[in-house]
Amino acid sequence: MSYGTFETTYAAAPGRYDRIPYRRTGSSGLDLSAFSFGLWQKFGKDYPYETQREIILHAFDLGITSFDNADRYGPPHRAAQKVFGQVLKNDLAPYRDELILSTKAGNPIGPSPYLKGGSRKSLLGSLDHSLRDLGTDYVDIFYHHRPDETTPIDETVGALVSAVQQGKALYVGISNYPTDRAHEIAGLLRQAGVPLLIHQPRYSIFDRRPEQSGLIDTAAADGFGLIVYSPLAQGLLTDKYLDGDVPAGARAQNSAFLKPDVIDEVYRQRAAALNKVAADRGQSLAQLALQWVLRRPEVTSALIGASSTAQLDHNVKALDFPPLTDEELALIDEHGVHGTGLKL
Ligand SMILES: NC(=O)c1ccc[n+]([C@@H]2O[C@H](COP(=O)([O-])OP(=O)(O)OC[C@H]3O[C@@H](n4cnc5c(N)ncnc54)[C@H](OP(=O)(O)O)[C@@H]3O)[C@@H](O)[C@H]2O)c1
Repeated sequence: MSYGTFETTYAAAPGRYDRIPYRRTGSSGLDLSAFSFGLWQKFGKDYPYETQREIILHAFDLGITSFDNADRYGPPHRAAQKVFGQVLKNDLAPYRDELILSTKAGNPIGPSPYLKGGSRKSLLGSLDHSLRDLGTDYVDIFYHHRPDETTPIDETVGALVSAVQQGKALYVGISNYPTDRAHEIAGLLRQAGVPLLIHQPRYSIFDRRPEQSGLIDTAAADGFGLIVYSPLAQGLLTDKYLDGDVPAGARAQNSAFLKPDVIDEVYRQRAAALNKVAADRGQSLAQLALQWVLRRPEVTSALIGASSTAQLDHNVKALDFPPLTDEELALIDEHGVHGTGLKL
């Protein structure tokens, strides 16, 4: 296939839009694929480019249109975006209009005061850098990665609004904001004429904060969507750690964000009980966990990671099963105790 000045051997799967649902993001007009794909772990300079390319293209072939990035993702920081930029240039450029690309700024990526926080300098500088790394003129969603209590919220709002007004982002989002701050910034952005599209919190059977803090209800009331990250609790809600061991190559073996000591007896018992609920439904624990976060209509998309195409194939089948019953949800509540496996 020829596109512009380069050649690609990639042609997207023709049936890709028939595989997974697309869900409306809050009160916006934008649909996201029920699963989004994130490049936080195992993307960057330290991993084979071909594997990373294969996973990204496979996700798109499965109907995943939404790809999540951040200036921080690597290693080193910014490397994951460079990888995605390479794939975009070489393979996905003909499909740019079919992609929702997001990036984030504000989580520290260096000692400089301009490489962190919520200032205009940090956010717009990072966005420009990310656009260069991604090799695109605009991202679809630009997020403030985490709240910054040291910067006036009006300045952060102004930077997000500018990103849209400058044509560098189509929509804006926030991540890791507590409920009250999310409500506040949603109001300010609405007043500024750039409604908050989406919030990106962590949410899973083992992390109940979005329910407990009222964030899910606030999202519905304020009209923003939710794209929930680590819905598999980084792999704890799959069958890979059920026997208490850490398989070679698994995230718990080599990540600063998932330490092997969380795989203790308490975790093992809870995960085994959840696995039984899944098995009784004819699905895997991973599929149960994904179906569980997507049972809430306020959740637009489950933001997953994967270290292989097989994991993706397996996980996107999560919605092929009947809805969870009240009895199953009660069992999940019993064994899905908030905080299991969470250190951060
Ligand atoms: N906004 C934020 O602050 C923030 C923070 C964290 C993440 N995120 C976003 O959320 C995305 C997803 O986070 P996450 O990777 O933690 O999500 P996750 O879906 O909870 O975990 C994904 C990991 O679980 C393992 N896995 C997936 N499917 C599996 C299966 N079927 N069987 C066995 N293992 C399986 C894989 O790890 P291994 O095979 O390597 O063990 C995979 O990389 C990130 O890429 C990023 O875009 C955002």
